[in-house]
Amino acid sequence: MTERPITTTDSGIPAPSDEFSLSVGPNGPLLMQDHYVIQKMAQFNRERVPERVVHAKGGGAYGILQITEDVSQFTKASLFTKGKETELFLRFSTVAGELGSADTARDPRGFAIKFYTDAGNYDIVGNNTPIFFIRDPSKFSDFIHSQKRRADTHTRDNNMQWDFWTLSPESAHQVTFLMTDRGTPKTWRNMHGFGSHTFLWYNAAGEKYWVKYHFKTEQGIENFTAGEAKAMTAEDADFHIRDLHTAIERGDHPAWRVNVQIMPFEAAADYRFNPFDLTKVWPHSDYPEITIGRFVLNRNPENYFAEVEQAGFEPANLVPGIGPSPDKMLQGRLFSYPDTHRYRIGPNYLQLPVNAPKVPVHSYNKDGAMRYKNSTDPVYAPNSVGGPAADPSLYEGEGYHISGEILRSAYTKHAEDDDYVQPRALWENVLSDTDRANLVSNIVGHASAPEVTTEMKHRVADYWTNIHKDLGQGVAQGLGIS
Ligand code: NDP
Ligand code: HEM
Repeated sequence: MTERPITTTDSGIPAPSDEFSLSVGPNGPLLMQDHYVIQKMAQFNRERVPERVVHAKGGGAYGILQITEDVSQFTKASLFTKGKETELFLRFSTVAGELGSADTARDPRGFAIKFYTDAGNYDIVGNNTPIFFIRDPSKFSDFIHSQKRRADTHTRDNNMQWDFWTLSPESAHQVTFLMTDRGTPKTWRNMHGFGSHTFLWYNAAGEKYWVKYHFKTEQGIENFTAGEAKAMTAEDADFHIRDLHTAIERGDHPAWRVNVQIMPFEAAADYRFNPFDLTKVWPHSDYPEITIGRFVLNRNPENYFAEVEQAGFEPANLVPGIGPSPDKMLQGRLFSYPDTHRYRIGPNYLQLPVNAPKVPVHSYNKDGAMRYKNSTDPVYAPNSVGGPAADPSLYEGEGYHISGEILRSAYTKHAEDDDYVQPRALWENVLSDTDRANLVSNIVGHASAPEVTTEMKHRVADYWTNIHKDLGQGVAQGLGIS
């Protein structure tokens, strides 16, 4: 038998007992001087950090990105150099459910990647859909409130969800996706990922392009039907997290192709759709996908809390060669994520191993709760003692001219901008007959919840009629209001 280590306090002092508190006589009372037991109880009370306000339930794994094509004509980002390999961490999640909720609920899936590049961490914090429900960050908290729980009863409420969606026609494209069987993916391995937003790429000569990322599953798309998803929810609430873990454990490493759509910088101004509107895709006939590499997930985390629960992704983590676009949602997200991490995990979340870059940090930030090292001395700039100095040439090319009146407004409409034209294309040209039938029955199932009022059912049918009359008719019939 191997020798067992001696239990200790968290300070390394040998523990007096694994089962008995220190008491006055065998029948108590207990003594304050039992530091070991008091530490155990106090530490237990502090085991949880707040769960993510959205995307609370998830799982993740480490992997490797390999770039196979030369894209230096579009971006100087070092991670996209041909032949380069970069370590990454990917976290999948549902959006609306809490930490203990079922993996198989109908919901978009988060697809958040942290690339540990040689120029610092680059995060692409996307979903398994190329679009989103809204196009202005001022509506985000309202949208999420409508999907989570009521303030009075603390229940989820489909009437509330449809109230928000039907009053927000820009949601139509994403809700169509959500209500197809892609809203209930079979596993995380069997779905695509998308950067969703448009990003800026600039090359060494300062030439600029707009780019969208598509991560295409090499496992093939597989979905649950609504019935299968519901059955799995009852059988195993952790089905997706378990599937990913066991697949990696048995050496069945899932992989995704890395594809991009690239738009010349100047083409954005008069493109037929506003290319920065997150409720729109760029049709492939205009901008085909180009494969530039692939990534594979090959290593499970060893400590869920340290590596997955405390992982902090941030769309503002951009490296030289990549910048944000004027997409208003992306601009809002640049603020939101580091703000929530400072609250949820603490101001020094970037020092945790899963969040820390694999390159040396030479920042002039210092101190704060749980900081265990400062990165530089002196701790101020400018200084005359040889402290770190910025190199602005790394960011040459990122700037571009913007001017305009300060106002609150919808986006400028481009020639074909309309909330229904792209979901209509999905219904008319992409979905199979089975996909269409399941879309109708999934909507009907969702809008048939007992709390959905008759008035709301009419609004739901009108919402879908805007996309296509057959779709609206199918929904109205299913809801018994035609
Ligand atoms: P394409 O026919 O070139 O592309 C259609 C896309 O839809 C493909 O990416 C396909 O990729 C994906 N797709 C196939 N089946 C489904 C499904 N059941 N649910 C969701 N997506 C599906 O046409 P366009 O580029 O002109 O786009 C037409 C419509 O397709 C768009 O309005 C949008 O709704 C949808 N779409 C477009 C994407 C884009 O970036 N252009 C991306 C995804 C969807 P795959 O089968 O590999 O998923
Ligand atoms: C998580 C805000 C839009 C994808 C989060 C979190 C916040 C947030 C506060 C919790 C982060 C944490 O605690 O770690 C917002 C705001 C948005 C927005 C304000 C719009 C203005 C989007 C969009 C996408 C997205 C458009 C995808 C395209 C994600 C993902 C996570 C997340 C994947 C989970 C990250 C992880 O795995 O840790 N979001 N979000 N969000 N969001 Fe958003």
